[in-house]
Amino acid sequence: MHSALVRLQNVFGFFTTVAFSVAAVIALSSFISPQSPSANVRIQNVQVVKGRPHYYSYKKEEYAHVKFDLDADLGTLFNWNTKQVFLYLKAVYPSTRASEPPSEAIIWDAILASSTAPWNQLHFVHPDPKSKSKVLPKKSKKAQAAEKAKAAKSGRKYENDLLYPRGELHLQNQRPKYQITDISGKLQNRTDAVLELGWNVQPWVGPLTWTNWQKIGAWEGLKGGRSQAFDFPEIGAKKVDKKDLGTEKGSEGYRLMAGQEQPRKSG
Ligand SMILES: *[C@@H]1O[C@H](CO)[C@@H](O)[C@H](O)[C@H]1NC(C)=O
Repeated sequence: MHSALVRLQNVFGFFTTVAFSVAAVIALSSFISPQSPSANVRIQNVQVVKGRPHYYSYKKEEYAHVKFDLDADLGTLFNWNTKQVFLYLKAVYPSTRASEPPSEAIIWDAILASSTAPWNQLHFVHPDPKSKSKVLPKKSKKAQAAEKAKAAKSGRKYENDLLYPRGELHLQNQRPKYQITDISGKLQNRTDAVLELGWNVQPWVGPLTWTNWQKIGAWEGLKGGRSQAFDFPEIGAKKVDKKDLGTEKGSEGYRLMAGQEQPRKSG
């Protein structure tokens, strides 16, 4: 009755049950890990121009270029089950017809990797505000020791390959990655736009979770995360510096390639 095959089937059945239960427990553990994200988004400069927003645009249309400041502390989104966080900043503004939902356009995004994710060139590398160079800053032994001590004091993990603690961002006068275009082709004089931060936490096991604005259990809602309302100016209202209309490159790793520098390991 208990042939080898039946025994094998039982062992395999038991294995899958255990594996599934462990995965379920890991997935659930994310929801009891407390989160208290906060962010401050400020508009720096809004320009509207008529032209070809992409090299593949075949007709001229109005597009907007928004520069911003972002200070965010999303460190608590990184728990032991977090693989990476997809972070984005979108412009939200009323549609031309009141009956339609507001228009949304992503102007900037970043993949924030956890310390357990294998290195990928698309991962976000925080720019150094003190250096114009695209290459990762080199820290002296002394500076590293000072940062280590500071991290220990505030109870944070020190990671040598990061400029700021994981999940913390301080971007100043940041160029967007994408221009804003509207389906109507018209953007000037549109009012009541805001920039809004959003994310998508991608865990090792379990469901993807999106920005929560309200408290859910152990997860506080995002504090801040919305800029003040702004208007798109009229074309020609301000003198536009064409050099100022550049966008940030999509791939982050080019900073490393440009300097032919390998990512530094924590230590
Ligand atoms: C934009 O607004 C300004 C000031 O209110 C007005 O003079 C101008 O005609 C408007 N332009 C368009 C294209 O609506």
